[in-house]
Amino acid sequence: MTNAGMPGSAWSAGFASAPRSAMNVYAEVMVPRMFEPWGRELLGELALEAGEAVLDVACGPGTVTRLAAAQSGPAGRVTGCDLSPAMLAIAQGREPVADGAPIDYVEAPADRLPVADESFDVATCQQGLQFFPDRLAALAEIRRALRPGGRIGIAVWKRIGECPPFAVLGEAIRAVAGDGLADRYAGGPWGLPRADDLRALLERAGFRDVQVEDRVLPVTFEGGPEQLAGTLAAAGVAGELEALSPQDKDRLRDAVAELSRPLMDDGALRSQLASHLAIARRRRHEPTRRRVACAG
Ligand SMILES: C[S@@+](CC[C@H](N)C(=O)[O-])C[C@H]1O[C@@H](n2cnc3c(N)ncnc32)[C@H](O)[C@@H]1O
Repeated sequence: MTNAGMPGSAWSAGFASAPRSAMNVYAEVMVPRMFEPWGRELLGELALEAGEAVLDVACGPGTVTRLAAAQSGPAGRVTGCDLSPAMLAIAQGREPVADGAPIDYVEAPADRLPVADESFDVATCQQGLQFFPDRLAALAEIRRALRPGGRIGIAVWKRIGECPPFAVLGEAIRAVAGDGLADRYAGGPWGLPRADDLRALLERAGFRDVQVEDRVLPVTFEGGPEQLAGTLAAAGVAGELEALSPQDKDRLRDAVAELSRPLMDDGALRSQLASHLAIARRRRHEPTRRRVACAG
């Protein structure tokens, strides 16, 4: 069963057409506070070695891509793929990684990766899988791109309730704009929350030695509820929120401030985020397909 028609797919389409201004919010507000620390955690699990070739799928503005380039060094090679031209433009506009592997950015959907078979040692996909319209096809593509024995590392958020700042945003949307929009918000990034589903997807795509772990990392929005609410500009429901009346926009801002109160500490919003990290391998020896001879 594919993910087509589900909130994650709608977010995927939203990323594909997102304006650069919205993705700048992602890159400037969310990457340093959330995605870079989580990227380090993911790469730590993969124990990247100097000289390895890395494929970063749904690379966004190059978050894990750049960390991987730093770790694999000048003898390595990194390719970042994403379907969002705005994300890729930001990635390409960043300064080169000092003493890092060369990076090649490619615009492509995750289920049609324009890369050669068995050409990477490691693949990463941080907070991307939940959005893919066909998650299994994307994982099969990543497996094709890995050499036999190659490693994959995937990060996918747990339930939105375990990511309290974003639960605040979801509940504020629910209060002001109703269940439909709130569910489309939460069903995007937090739409693949069960470890068993993640494990089953990886196993069905042919990966072995699948390990799924729970992780929690702190997060701080030093700019408080206003800074947190600003992240909605990069959300898959940004268009619907932008279309709210001025009164409803005020109500949304007030609701975020009110619901954030328990997370406030000395002027900053301090909380935590919970994610699954899954690590697996492509088999070292693929079973050879038996040819059935047809008589006649
Ligand atoms: C939450 S961002 C994560 C970006 C990056 N991995 C990071 O850690 O910052 C999700 C990314 O998935 C990308 N994405 C969504 N659907 C996709 C698809 N079907 N194929 C490729 N990329 C996709 C988006 O464009 C976006 O850059």
